[in-house]
Amino acid sequence: MLRTQVAILGAGPAGLVLAQLLARSGIESIVLEHRSREYVEARVRAGVLEQGSVDLLREMGVSDRMDREGMVHTGLELRFDGQGHRIPLTELSGGRSIMVYGQQEVVKDLIAARLAAGAQILFDAEATVVRDLQSSRPHVRFRCNGTEDELEADFVAGCDGFHGVSRTALPQSACTVYDKEYPYAWLGILAAVAPSNEELIYVRHERGFALHSMRSPHITRLYLQVVPDEDLADWPDERIWEELQARMATRDGFVLESGPILEKGITTMRSFVVEPMQHGRLYLVGDAAHIVPPTGAKGMNLAVADARVLASALDAWYAKGSTVGLEQYSETCLRRVWRAEHFSWWMTTMLHRHADEPFMDRLGLSNLRYVVSSESAARTLAENYVGLVNV
Ligand code: FAD
Ligand code: DHB
Repeated sequence: MLRTQVAILGAGPAGLVLAQLLARSGIESIVLEHRSREYVEARVRAGVLEQGSVDLLREMGVSDRMDREGMVHTGLELRFDGQGHRIPLTELSGGRSIMVYGQQEVVKDLIAARLAAGAQILFDAEATVVRDLQSSRPHVRFRCNGTEDELEADFVAGCDGFHGVSRTALPQSACTVYDKEYPYAWLGILAAVAPSNEELIYVRHERGFALHSMRSPHITRLYLQVVPDEDLADWPDERIWEELQARMATRDGFVLESGPILEKGITTMRSFVVEPMQHGRLYLVGDAAHIVPPTGAKGMNLAVADARVLASALDAWYAKGSTVGLEQYSETCLRRVWRAEHFSWWMTTMLHRHADEPFMDRLGLSNLRYVVSSESAARTLAENYVGLVNV
């Protein structure tokens, strides 16, 4: 049996940020991660860091590579009806900006920092049961290399994502689930070709949504709206490029450069929140407690924001015996979570085609026209996109 102060399940952005913040306060933790280090470092996911997430990574001392290789963006383009409209994010949000830097790069930097400090991450360690949550000694049972073991802690942080085990430890009678599925999914690719535009482009097209993003001056990240049960086998590379061209090359003079596809995958879309995000000594952090559709680029940022709130509450408990932060953890996080749920739903429904619901299509188009013609509407998009300071 292992023993630590905080047992952290999952080495995604939530678990790794939490572990790093706790270490800075002198609080010991052990991170249990189901997958191998190679697997989590290669998993391609989100790419946009809000200003607040960037600031936190800097404060934590893990920003050297991000500041060298990440790309600061001060605007984005909304493209529809054959025209592009730039939303000047920084100008409209009092000087804030976003950083385009892949989630897996953030994960690599955090793992390297933790291991360099001599702290523990057990890879290939799957948590199977979380128990004794109402006691002062909660336990996590886990399986590592075929062997069963147990971890005893003062607190358990469930940072194990949407499909993890920790949320199942919340008694159904004590929580409420809010859930919404969408009639579309994203087919995402990573391609070895220079971005065709300096900024992100969100496209609404009759054939469906498309998004142009990037990872470096040589790597482009692109997404296409597809149906939820889309079969990747039906999408040979040529078809993906043809469809991207059809949806993106709608503005005069724009050419989408193509290149070898390095990675492709399909992401389904849902909105999901469980309330409260805590039970006894178990605290859910990030995707374990809530999911947003990716159109607002909020998922990773919410995970980081939750981790910051929990780290500060645990710091107050260990340093001064204060329970206030822990008692307010769920309520504090849920304010930001629900703001992001609304923004993500709004961006998603505004930009996607609703094949079976023409009413939603008309609303989406009307909303886009409003955003590009009213400074107040554009400001609403900008301040939510770069991340609100007070929610
Ligand atoms: P995760 O990153 O999911 O980390 C959870 C970790 O826990 C994982 O490493 C997992 O292996 C581990 N784990 C799971 N179960 C156990 C267990 N039983 N025991 C131990 N460890 C366990 N957001 C965007 O903004 N834009 C995007 O384009 C985008 N694309 C996405 C694509 C996919 C396929 C997915 C799943 C998510 C995507 N997201 C995107 C959302 C964003 O990546 C997440 O919000 C973010 O990863 C949340 O971080 P997290 O640390 O809470 O969870
Ligand atoms: C990326 C992903 C998003 O969901 C988004 O809204 C913007 C960019 C990306 O992977 O780069």
